[in-house]
Amino acid sequence: MQRRNFLKIGGLGSISAGLIHSFLTGSLAENPVDEKNLSLMCEPTTADILGPYYRSNSPLRSDIVPEEDNDENTVYMSGKVITNDCSPVEGASVELWQADGASEYYMLAPDFRYRGTFITNSDGSYFFNTVVPGHYLNGSQYRPAHLHFRVTKQGFRSIITQIYFEGDEFIPIDPWASAPAASLRIIPLVEVNTGEHKYELNFDFSLDIITSTEPEVPAFAANIKYNNPFVSSINIQTNTDDLIIHAAEILDIHGKLILSKYRLNDQSLSFKTDALRSGLYFLRLKTSQGIGVFRIVKTD
Ligand SMILES: [Fe+2]
Repeated sequence: MQRRNFLKIGGLGSISAGLIHSFLTGSLAENPVDEKNLSLMCEPTTADILGPYYRSNSPLRSDIVPEEDNDENTVYMSGKVITNDCSPVEGASVELWQADGASEYYMLAPDFRYRGTFITNSDGSYFFNTVVPGHYLNGSQYRPAHLHFRVTKQGFRSIITQIYFEGDEFIPIDPWASAPAASLRIIPLVEVNTGEHKYELNFDFSLDIITSTEPEVPAFAANIKYNNPFVSSINIQTNTDDLIIHAAEILDIHGKLILSKYRLNDQSLSFKTDALRSGLYFLRLKTSQGIGVFRIVKTD
């Protein structure tokens, strides 16, 4: 499990970016969500540099270690690809490339050693058997040991990132590993049995379903106010007399209509939301200034 405290929001199932697109007839606006509630979500994995050693089209496989190196420090890596509503993503491509234990990248090796691609299973899982990478010089300075990943799935924004290991002495002097964005990507190498030099590593990659839709914020968003996150009700009102709400709908992440109010022609409205499960929803408003879709979060 990735080292962060997230609460899985149950019952949401999987979502498709295309589906979200289909009901975003207007635009999606981000609305401020407080820190406490953001921490409940499976935040998108942060990016890191691609680096100079990427090769495309690595073979589909879990074992990326050449036979002659099989006695090195073995790493059994596993995890899942999920969305930022914590749903698994099947069929995502997880590419891993790395230096070997002697810090060598093999850019030209025909066998693509220390490189592989895994297509995630129905539960979003992926697996790699590899070795602990060595440190290598970047200019005059060593980089901390790291694994490179590229995670792609049609409809989502791709992730290019790196995983580092807790306790690596070169992390504090490395501009990428020491960046705040990398903090959740510094993870423990857990030895399976003491002294056997075999380790487990677990990391979940979270694809960003929301920003993948690349929505535009509607011009009238600044004049709409509503409580978000919401608990037992959500109250919506406009700030200016010339912004009138004609209709309001709450949709789940599959685009299914959950609650609605039509023929409003008013500047304020309210939905009772006690019956909604906790999680992510969308508020779609039809107004005198166009249609807007807003991300909203129900909490207990
Ligand atoms: Fe590297």
